[in-house]
Parts: sequence; C-alpha cells; structure tokens
Amino acid sequence: MPLDFNAIFAEILRSIEPDRGCGKVADYIPALAAIDRMKFGMCVSLENGDTHCVGDAEERFSIQSISKVFTLSMVLRKVGDDLWKRVGREPSGSPFNSIVQLEMERGIPRNPLINAGAIVVTDHLVSDFGPAAMIDELLNRLRMLAGDPSIAVDEDVASSEASVGARNRALANFMQSFGNLHNPVEETLAAYFSHCAISMNCRQLARAALFLAFNGRDPISGKQMVTGEACRRINAVMMSCGHYDNSGDFTYRIGLPGKSGVGGGILVVSPGHGSIAVWSPGLNKAGTSHVGSLALETLVRLTGWSVF
Ligand code: DON
Repeated sequence: MPLDFNAIFAEILRSIEPDRGCGKVADYIPALAAIDRMKFGMCVSLENGDTHCVGDAEERFSIQSISKVFTLSMVLRKVGDDLWKRVGREPSGSPFNSIVQLEMERGIPRNPLINAGAIVVTDHLVSDFGPAAMIDELLNRLRMLAGDPSIAVDEDVASSEASVGARNRALANFMQSFGNLHNPVEETLAAYFSHCAISMNCRQLARAALFLAFNGRDPISGKQMVTGEACRRINAVMMSCGHYDNSGDFTYRIGLPGKSGVGGGILVVSPGHGSIAVWSPGLNKAGTSHVGSLALETLVRLTGWSVF
C-alpha cells in the first residue's frame, strides 16, 4: 500500500510543535544570524518522480555542510580511491571545525565531512577543475538534478563567512604545513565558502540527492552520477560521520545516512526508498537542526524507512 504522506506530515507537525523554535541559529556566520527559527519545511523525493512536501519546503536556505556530500560525490567520480590518501573515513567524535586531531594525525583529516576533510576535497577539485570551474560544475549538476537553472551561490553568505573564516583558515594553513593542501589557502577557501553558500530549498535538495538512494543512478534522468560502489561508500560515510560529534545519536534515533548543515538543513537518504530534506534553523550543540532531527525521527517511525 502506498504511504499516505498527508497523514505522515500531519503527525510530524504534531510531533515537532512543542519544540518549534528551539535551538540556536548559526550566528558565527553573520549572514545566517537573523533567520527565523520558527521556519520548518520538509520534502520527500521518490523513485517515480513524485515529491511530497510540507511547510516551508519551497523556501531557499543556505545548504552549508550539506554541500560536502555533493563535493564528495564529484571527487570520488574524478579521482576515486586516491582520495583516501589525503582524507580518512573514521568518525571524529569532535566538533565540525575542530583542529586537535590534525596535529596528531599529521594533517590528514579524519573524514571528508568535517571542515578540514571537506577543505581537502575542495582542494582536490580546485586542482582538477580550477576554482571557478569546480563551482560551475557543482552548480550544473545540482541544477540538472533538481531541474532548476536558477540554483546559485548566495554571494552575501559566502563573503560573510569569508570575513569571519579564521578557524577554517587555521585548518587550511595547518594542513598546508603538512603538504596536504596543494593550492593557495585563499583560493581553496574561496571555493569552499562558495559551495557552502549555495541556496536551495527542501524540494530541490531532496530531488538532487535521489541518486544516493538508488545505487548512484538518478532514477528520473537515468544518469549514473557515481558508481554503485562509490554510492555505497558515500552513504557509509554519511551514516558514520554526517553529524560530527552527534553522529552516533543521529544514527541511534534515525538510522539513515544523513548530512546536516548549520543553515538548519538535513539531507537524509533511505536506500531503495527515496531521499528526504528537512529545514529548521534552530541547531543543537553539534550544529544539527534540532526540530529537523525530531521530524526525521517521526518520519522513520511512520514509514519504517530506517535501515535497521
Ligand atoms: O565551514 C563552516 O563552518 C560552514 N561553512 C559549514 C559548517 C556546517 O555546516 C557544519 N554543519 N553542521
């Protein structure tokens, strides 16, 4: 029997109501500090092209670290397993912008979803495409998958983050000292801040990630975005590392590969079923949307979509 998403969304809205507006917005990026914490949107994208949306699912927000899933897909397609010479694939158990492990582990970040690891991924792509062309390539993929040519970088958010990016500059300089950054720090960071500042809504995000639920093949266009093997690995890294020092709790509660961003978005993949994007700007201590996680918990309870 097909799932009744109207009933599922009604139950989700009931379940989040007491917590709506809770959490803290990411005010360390000035351009994100004024976002309304009451916002909530969710969208489910399915193999047959159907999308089911609720709330503010058409409103664009800053995808931030969710972009790391798409840059990881690009780099695995381009350089394959060579990536793992420069980045690990273990959960860090540390905050997303932590520097402590980098010294002990000689400039090799724990995984490609923490900031240091994502900066190395971006550096790889800057070497392979050039700084502007890598952003164009990423945007073109997102536009093609989501079917919207207007998807773009929010330049105000990118420059806002660049103006306060001391921590990411420290990570990049530190990795450069170990020989694990191949391009000038400012060039790689400009590309990193740009991809974090891409604006998308829940419908577009869920749709763009559908290939991750179907062995790397986008079921609507038929395009193989990454190999089945790479897809399995991206999902594995999302499951173990997608929420930093909150990854274990997220897996315990939701049981699906996911990636959060400090803009309040969470992207989740249910292999064989579909992809889900949720947005609510109030964050927990680890930088994952508080209400978004609650909504996903209800969604997996009602759909049975957890992998466990
Ligand atoms: O580098 C940063 O700090 C931001 N551009 C991205 C951080 C982020 O989204 C962490 N996710 N929860």
